[in-house]
Amino acid sequence: MQLKDKKKGGGNMIQFPKNFVWGAATAAYQVEGAAFEGGKGPSIWDEFSHIEGNISQNHNGDVSCDHYHQYKTDVQQMKALGLKSYRFSIAWARVMPTGRLPMNQEGLDFYSNLVDELIENGIEPIVTLYHWDLPQSLQLEGGWMNPNIVNDFRDYAKAMFHALGDRVKQWITLNEPWVVAYAGHYAGRHAPGLSDLKSAVTVSHHLILSHAMAVEQYRSMAFGGDIGITLNLYPIIAASDSKEDALSATFVDGYHNRWFLDPVLKGSYPKDILEIFKKNLGFEVSDEDMSIIKSAHCDFLGVNYYFRKVIKHSPIHEILNFEEVKPEGSYTDMGWEIYPEGLYKLLMRLKEDYDNPRMMITENGAAYGEDSVQEERLKDDLRIDFLKSHFIQAYRAIESGVRVEGYYVWSLFDNFEWAYGYTKRFGIIDINYDTLERSWKKSATWYQGVIADNGITPSVLTKSNL
Ligand code: FCB
Repeated sequence: MQLKDKKKGGGNMIQFPKNFVWGAATAAYQVEGAAFEGGKGPSIWDEFSHIEGNISQNHNGDVSCDHYHQYKTDVQQMKALGLKSYRFSIAWARVMPTGRLPMNQEGLDFYSNLVDELIENGIEPIVTLYHWDLPQSLQLEGGWMNPNIVNDFRDYAKAMFHALGDRVKQWITLNEPWVVAYAGHYAGRHAPGLSDLKSAVTVSHHLILSHAMAVEQYRSMAFGGDIGITLNLYPIIAASDSKEDALSATFVDGYHNRWFLDPVLKGSYPKDILEIFKKNLGFEVSDEDMSIIKSAHCDFLGVNYYFRKVIKHSPIHEILNFEEVKPEGSYTDMGWEIYPEGLYKLLMRLKEDYDNPRMMITENGAAYGEDSVQEERLKDDLRIDFLKSHFIQAYRAIESGVRVEGYYVWSLFDNFEWAYGYTKRFGIIDINYDTLERSWKKSATWYQGVIADNGITPSVLTKSNL
């Protein structure tokens, strides 16, 4: 790769495009706390995290980082970092305690004030409507398995566009629908904790349909902003040259990546996977649903990238007949392989196969420091290396014509990492969970410099990153 000599700081520098959006991301249940305050209704994560044994060390999001109360000082931290944009999600049950109207004004005020605070401080809000915390009352009616959820989601989205759309110009309908469907309804490690494959596939369809309805709703209200969806995507590699492994890898690519990418960006489900689901699960889609999906065109694709998947065939399940292989390499505290080139490969593939959509990296980051004392956690050189090497791969993709417009580090703070509770620390800002004190890690200071330079400076660029 060619480095551009920008003469900044007297040496070579990777310089990102002008107006590149540097951001950081969080999600409501992971940071807000105030789980039962301000008129908020219970969500499926309140329920799930309070069931003994579901979460590591029986942690829950009741208090979390207390972002709900501390948002003003948190915005000051973002400003000091120089963030151009902050990605956060709305807790549906905070604004609609039962999942439907009437609205809880106090809950809405929280988001409205947060949006104002961000804008006053020069930070653009990008809002995720659904980051996994369904109102529990809707779950009692079947949640994402019930076809009525699609209208409920549209109504909720409409209310949010109406309330915030004058100021919020960037919307994300759903975060990682694959996780909602499979981790929640098949693997059972996420709320609502179910384990039925057919339900998971049905849920995935209702999610895609909900996304399409929300996009149409947004268009009809003519706010003129952008709306997209965030998918968790992976480069998928077969573990060997065998035909079986290749077939399993194609299947995994299909049910993980293409099952969501194709309907969102091409308006149809991938034929191979649709056939498998039809034949084995009796899954059917109506023409009416497909025409709704086909007519919804979103403005950008949000890409969450963490690692690749190496797949080998395995007869463990008649439909999901594969296993993931752990390649040799370095891993983060999540047990996720560090594979920066995967980001480049993924972005290039999206450019080729999906007609070069506008994209944002809506999440990328690493968990480190699990068993360390705070003083050690703050010296997070490993996180700097991780982010740096991934930024470089995004840059390579941009140089190759991929339309990546922004990059959101996961996460602004250490926070409630779902089934892992507070044991995994993804933040560039450390949280002391006893005092709720925020402290910048070395990576926060480093990121501040990246944003200020809109690039990676020579002093932090080493041969090993390339
Ligand atoms: C993603 C989620 C996000 C966070 C990161 C580590 O799958 O969207 O909430 O948990 O993983």
